[in-house]
Amino acid sequence: MKPSNDNAGYLSGFGNEFATEALPGALPAHQNSPQRAPYGLYPEQLSGTAFTAPRAHNRRSWLYRIRPAAMHQPFRQIDNRRIVSRFDQVAAPPNQLRWDPLPMPDLPTDFIEGWVTMAGNGSPDSMTGCAIHLYAANRPMEGRYFYNADGELLVVPQQGRLRIASELGVVEIGPQEIAVIPRGIRFAVDLPDGTARGYICENFGALLRLPDMGPIGSNGLANPRDFLTPVARYEDVEGDFELVAKFGGNLWSAGIKHSPLDVVAWHGNYAPYKYDLRHFNTIGSISYDHPDPSIFLVLQAPSDTPGVDTLDFVIFPPRWLAAEDTFRPPWFHRNVASEFMGLIEGQYDAKSAGFRPGGASLHNCMSGHGPDAPTFDKASGIDTSVPQKVNATMAFMFETRNVICPTAHALSSPQLQPDYFQCWQGFTKHFNENQA
Ligand SMILES: [Fe+2]
Repeated sequence: MKPSNDNAGYLSGFGNEFATEALPGALPAHQNSPQRAPYGLYPEQLSGTAFTAPRAHNRRSWLYRIRPAAMHQPFRQIDNRRIVSRFDQVAAPPNQLRWDPLPMPDLPTDFIEGWVTMAGNGSPDSMTGCAIHLYAANRPMEGRYFYNADGELLVVPQQGRLRIASELGVVEIGPQEIAVIPRGIRFAVDLPDGTARGYICENFGALLRLPDMGPIGSNGLANPRDFLTPVARYEDVEGDFELVAKFGGNLWSAGIKHSPLDVVAWHGNYAPYKYDLRHFNTIGSISYDHPDPSIFLVLQAPSDTPGVDTLDFVIFPPRWLAAEDTFRPPWFHRNVASEFMGLIEGQYDAKSAGFRPGGASLHNCMSGHGPDAPTFDKASGIDTSVPQKVNATMAFMFETRNVICPTAHALSSPQLQPDYFQCWQGFTKHFNENQA
C-alpha cells in the first residue's frame, strides 16, 4: 500500500491490512515466514488478539527486523514510580472530584518517568478495565525504549507535541490529536516542543475499535480514512540502551545492545495509529433535547456484554447547538457508567470556571453532577430559536462500565480541588406549588 497523499509518512484507514517497507523488496511477496527473508532480516509475528479471535477482530502483524525482539538481557524489576495498576487499595469515595492541571516537573523527566496514575479499574492480569494516567515531561527518552504488555495506550496530548518513534514507524501528534500504541509495541518518545503534558488511558481490555453506527448510517463520527498508521522506518544503531517493560502492573528494565526499533518492513493490521479529533463529524440534535454523550463516541473497547463497553473514548468538540425549547448544556444526571473527563482546550460548556485545560474531573457511578449554577441560569434564559456555536473547545471523557477508583496519590494531590462540591451549592429554590 502506498502512503496516503496527504500524509507522506502515514497509511490511511482503521484496522486495515497494511503493508509497508523502508527498503524496496524488504517484504516477501507471498509468504509470512520464508526460509530466508530479504536483506537478511528476521521474520517475527506480533499478535494483538487471540489466534482464534473472529476474523473481523483478529489483529496481528508480521515484522521483518534486523534482530529478533527476544535479543536483550534479562529484565530486573525497577521502581514503579507513580504508576499504579491495582485499584482495590483505596476506598473510592462517591464524591464529585476535580483536579487542577499537573505541574511541569522540576527535575529532568522523560515521557515514561512523567506518568502519574490518577484512577482506574480492573487489572492487567484480568485483561479488563483501564488505568488513567496524567503525564508531564521535559526531556526526550534517550537511550531508553518502552513497551507495555499490560494494555494498549491511548495518548491524549494537552500541551506540547510528542514524536513517538515505534517499531512500526513514527507517529507525531500534538494537542487535539490522539495516538493509540498497541500492547507490546516498543517505542521512544521525543518532545519537539521541549515539554509536554497530557492524558493516557491504558486499556487492559479488548482493543479499541470504531463503534457501529446504527441509524446514523455509513458516515459520521470518526471516519475510518482519518486514522493514520505510520509507514515502516528503522534504526540500525548499536550501543548500551535500556528496554523498560510494564508487565503485570510493574516496571522492569533490561539492557539491550541495539535499538529495538529495527523493523525494516511490516505488514498486518496490528500497529500504532493517530487521529485528529478536529476531523470528528459531530452528530447532534436539530429538533429538541440534548442527546446522550454516546453520540460523541470516537473509540470503544467492548466488554463481554453486548452493547456495554469497558471503555468509551468520547469527545466534546466545537459544534452547533440548534435544538429549540431545550436545555442545551449537559443536564443534571446520574449514570451507571463512571466518567473521567479531561480538557484539552477552551472551556467545557457545563462549567463556568474551575475546569482548566490540563485538569481532570471524576464523576463516578450514580454520583450526581451536571451544570454549575451560573451555567444553569444562563442556559435557562437563553433564546433557543437562535443556533449557538460552541467554539474553541475540546473536552473528552474516558467512560467506563466499572467504577473508576482514584489512587491514593489522586486523593491527596495538591491539585485536588477541595471545594469542587460548591459547584452545586448555589441553586436557588424556585419551587412554588401554587404556580405551574
Ligand atoms: Fe456526566
